[in-house]
Amino acid sequence: MDAVTSNSQPSSGAVNAVKAADELVVNVQGLNHYFGEGENRKQVLFNNTLQVGPGELVIMTGPSGSGKTTLLTLVGALRSSQEGSNRVLGKELNGLGAKQLNEVRRQIGFIFQMHNLFDSLTAFENVKMSMELHGHKSRDMRREIIKILSRLGLGERIYYKPRQLSGGQRQRVAVARALVNRPKLILADEPTAALDKKSSRDVVDMLKHLTREERATILMVTHDSRILDVADRIVNMVDGHIESDVSVNESLRLCEFLKKSSVFSNLSPNELMHIAEKMKRESHAAGERVIRQGDEGDKFYVITAGKVDVHINVDREGRETKWVDDMSCGDFFGEKALLTGEPRNASIITAEDSVLYSLGKEDFHAALKASDSFQDQLRKVAMGR
Ligand SMILES: Nc1ncnc2c1ncn2[C@@H]1O[C@H](COP(=O)(O)OP(=O)(O)OP(=O)(O)O)[C@@H](O)[C@H]1O
Ligand SMILES: [Mg+2]
Repeated sequence: MDAVTSNSQPSSGAVNAVKAADELVVNVQGLNHYFGEGENRKQVLFNNTLQVGPGELVIMTGPSGSGKTTLLTLVGALRSSQEGSNRVLGKELNGLGAKQLNEVRRQIGFIFQMHNLFDSLTAFENVKMSMELHGHKSRDMRREIIKILSRLGLGERIYYKPRQLSGGQRQRVAVARALVNRPKLILADEPTAALDKKSSRDVVDMLKHLTREERATILMVTHDSRILDVADRIVNMVDGHIESDVSVNESLRLCEFLKKSSVFSNLSPNELMHIAEKMKRESHAAGERVIRQGDEGDKFYVITAGKVDVHINVDREGRETKWVDDMSCGDFFGEKALLTGEPRNASIITAEDSVLYSLGKEDFHAALKASDSFQDQLRKVAMGR
């Protein structure tokens, strides 16, 4: 048996696999998008898949121009979907007309960079208008509005107009307006970009609270590393495609785990997280061959559950092998062939059902480059083996 036949999936796969499709709030499959016409037509989104369930807070990151806002506006029914499936709040958006898209949009809370407050209305009136559009009666509105604006630190500015407010304060009015109707889906594009540390925290705490208390779903684009801790998952977009989709809990667990192992112990939490995010979870049944002696090295492995046996070939053809060692939870293998470029010097066969996290060759070398201590430690271990 070959390692390729094993069950390999991004580390978040398990999170999504358990959710039935009809329970998903966002279910994007094979989504492409193009801007421009004729010769100028340019593809900006490529075959994207994204599934988000009720109560999940997903953070989307990625370089400028990678397509984050475009994806967010498609999910938010702010533009028409062109190719692929884009199911939001149980409705397929691809193929809907302007009126139907508008209906979907009304159920979503938007916190976008361009906040579009009404200049002639006070903070209070801006929020009130959003509530009226959702059919609230004026009797119970006043208390709600004052409560939400105060919670966002605008208690003293309730009756100010946008031009009398700072950029950060205006941004918070926009947040209040998006959240006051308690939408089931909130889409946020850099919601904390104009905010200081304390206001950013207030905003994300409030968002997190909504996911816990009301099972609201949040998809948020941000580069703000101070708020990554609230995310359940982090999605990374590169050149129009979602490159990785990582469950934060699972990455944190893996980090804790890696830290205990000698080669990773010197790494900073940032370096560890970076490596953990790139690793893929693989479950292998007992008796599977993970590595074959003589093959080219393609991955580095860490064992997080189970046990593996190390065998070396007795004859040249590898017909007969000899057991030399076993390894279990917390041990790692596969680094030597990646470091030296030589073929695998032993075979690895699972002794029981095991969970391994693997790091691909390219990511492995990127991690080495980024961290001197990782490189040092690994070389020491590999040369000793
Ligand atoms: N209306 C448009 N017409 C043509 N091209 C566009 C349009 N909007 C975006 N693009 C292009 O699509 C690509 C993705 O843009 P998008 O705004 O989604 O990126 P982003 O990841 O949100 O970037 P940033 O982090 O800078 O906000 C870019 O190459 C951009 O130039
Ligand atoms: Mg953007």
